Amino acid sequence: MTTTLIVTAHPSRHSFTAAWADASEQACLASGGQVLRSDLVQAGFDPVERFDHYSDPVAEDVLKCQEHASQAGTLPADVPAEIAKFQAADRIILHFPIWWFAPPAIMKGWCDRVLAHGAMHTTKARFDTGRHRDKTVLFCVSTGSNAAESGPDGKEGDVRMLLWPLAYTFRYLGCQIAQPQVVHGVHGYWKGGAKDAVEARLAAHLTDHAEVIAGFDELSLMPFNADTDFDEDGRLRADAPSVTPFIKRP
Ligand SMILES: Cc1cc2nc3c(=O)[nH]c(=O)nc-3n(C[C@H](O)[C@H](O)[C@H](O)COP(=O)(O)O)c2cc1C
Repeated sequence: MTTTLIVTAHPSRHSFTAAWADASEQACLASGGQVLRSDLVQAGFDPVERFDHYSDPVAEDVLKCQEHASQAGTLPADVPAEIAKFQAADRIILHFPIWWFAPPAIMKGWCDRVLAHGAMHTTKARFDTGRHRDKTVLFCVSTGSNAAESGPDGKEGDVRMLLWPLAYTFRYLGCQIAQPQVVHGVHGYWKGGAKDAVEARLAAHLTDHAEVIAGFDELSLMPFNADTDFDEDGRLRADAPSVTPFIKRP
């Protein structure tokens, strides 16, 4: 049976983001899967990593704190349950809006605290040797801006580039990352016929989402360089492809 962890970063249970996360859950259940959920705002998840989370902070060094607590079994109380859900999942679906050209801070904070050094990755277990190579991550993202504004030449910046740092976070863990699902033009300022049209578009999207989940294993994946594409200094080798503007030849 496939287990899916759905992580939601949004303050409202009545948002499009929340409705989309519910649609993911229903589609996963309909295909016979099991669903785990982390609704970060509703759960009051603390996104700020700091030393007073730790009973035995090590030398004011966050990586060492996380590593020590992972080994000693003293990770902060709210972290092990999140790690357990992540580890149990074959698929992880993150639902969030774009806020200030990035995922909401609580999403980043969940990564900072839950993807703990030691428990989730080590200097030896990362990228191609990451521990989570059996998992696929999908981002389901809404933007207020329209599709043109969020495209490669759009004035809001290419949303796929905005999402690349978060994608690379999970690539660091070894996961595969599906090409993000993005719905544009989601905001409450539409009026009259335009409002009706947007509501109909969003409702149709939620219905169609079942097909995305049913075809999850066939989703296109984001390309990343292999470990062997880099030289001893960590630079892209001359004969290796550049598959992202984030890692290119100068
Ligand atoms: C703090 C904040 C910052 C935002 N920044 C952006 C942005 O940078 N780009 C964008 O397209 N929309 C931005 N928006 C609009 C949201 O993306 C939009 O409200 C959301 O996707 C709507 O989905 P929801 O109903 O799930 O909240 C922002 C909204 C808020 C509240």
